[in-house]
Amino acid sequence: MEKLWGGRFEGKSETWIDEFGASIPFDQKLAKQDIIGSLAHVKMLGKTGILTDTEVIQITNGLNILQEKLSTGKLEFTLENEDIHLNIEKFLHEEIGSVAGKLHTGRSRNDQVATDMHLYLKDIVQEVIEKIHLFRQVLVNTAEANIETIMPGYTHLQHAQPISFAHHMMAYYGMLTRDQERFSESLKRVDISPLGCAALAGTTFPIDREYTAKLLGFSHIYENSLDGVSDRDFILEFLSNSSILMMHLSRFCEEIILWCSHEFQFVELTDTFSTGSSIMPQKKNPDMAELIRGKSGRVYGNLFSLLTVLKGLPLAYNKDLQEDKEGMFDTAHTILTSLEIMAGMVDTMKINREVMEKSTEKDFSNATELADYLASKGMPFRQAHEVVGKLVLSCTKEGIYLQDVPLEKYQAITPLIEADIYQTLASKTAVERRHSYGGTGFDQVTSAIQRSKLQLQSEEK
Ligand code: ARG
Repeated sequence: MEKLWGGRFEGKSETWIDEFGASIPFDQKLAKQDIIGSLAHVKMLGKTGILTDTEVIQITNGLNILQEKLSTGKLEFTLENEDIHLNIEKFLHEEIGSVAGKLHTGRSRNDQVATDMHLYLKDIVQEVIEKIHLFRQVLVNTAEANIETIMPGYTHLQHAQPISFAHHMMAYYGMLTRDQERFSESLKRVDISPLGCAALAGTTFPIDREYTAKLLGFSHIYENSLDGVSDRDFILEFLSNSSILMMHLSRFCEEIILWCSHEFQFVELTDTFSTGSSIMPQKKNPDMAELIRGKSGRVYGNLFSLLTVLKGLPLAYNKDLQEDKEGMFDTAHTILTSLEIMAGMVDTMKINREVMEKSTEKDFSNATELADYLASKGMPFRQAHEVVGKLVLSCTKEGIYLQDVPLEKYQAITPLIEADIYQTLASKTAVERRHSYGGTGFDQVTSAIQRSKLQLQSEEK
């Protein structure tokens, strides 16, 4: 088949080489953006008088037919036409004949592909923002239903201090809010038009870049044509923001997986989000959570792959840049589906309140309460820490907990300890009394939830 760029070639192309060079197997995902970009470009060619009105109408009609055919699945892409841009142009030829050849006036595939990618990511980032927002809504709802659900808070995966389960959910709310912010802030750099940078140096045609940018809904245009066709920072930023997002989802999944284990039994996932074993009839595995944790690997990989592709590239376009696409598509798909699964999984998981609370009763996670109690009665905190530490050691030897120590024994240690100590040691009291801003106290968690609800509402306006 005749190549659209075949003029200066004598030799025939070979299929195995075409296969290696082609991007059509994956960049056909950009077909819609490619046609939209061309529609804006041809409109501008008309407005500036570069093409006649008749030519513009013919090309526009042709592109509209292609848009229609695309949406009904009637475009059959071919490998010989290498990539989405040449495929579309070839289709246009078939539709309207040789006038199709005028579409590429004042443009190159280099600014064309960059434009397509900017258009694509603008939509995807918007979709990601919406999905994160919905997941944050689920987190807040789960928190609201569990303000007084007590669980062990951990450090080093050891019981540390009791906390409210709502507080734990709201910690993830905080992470996801930052993720959403990062994606929102990145839009500024996605929202720039490279169209009209042409191959690398701009063009001799009197094009109007501001006009095409406006038609395509871009807020700005690249200031420098070399930069415009070479820049893939906006994709890197997407991959990087996605990596941080996946790291958060993965941490959450790791906790869910632990909580589902026989040892914890803090939560139970619904059947929808679980799978069985082909040999062990009793199994109910948290596969979806494990997969999200696992998929963080490919998302990080995509970031590193593009960073590596870019690191040694001289300006301007190099074919290496074609390697920017698969990782971006894969990451977009991975994070969008992961967010959906997370929202559904957390929204429907059964929270075993009693098990959680019980596990804070047979432990020493109230040791800080006793130390704080002594400190509030005047004992220097360091000394209180020492006293309680020794007591914990002797309790461990005896196989009892702080709440089991008789009052006489407490008073023998120090008369500062009175009968109200048992109330102080209760895990619910421990949580309830943490009134410091941002702490796990019920009042704090309640107002944190209120603030986040207002925040979510304001985002919906
Ligand atoms: N398929 C190419 C890519 O994805 C389009 C740009 C080709 N430009 C070129 N000068 N060969 O990067």
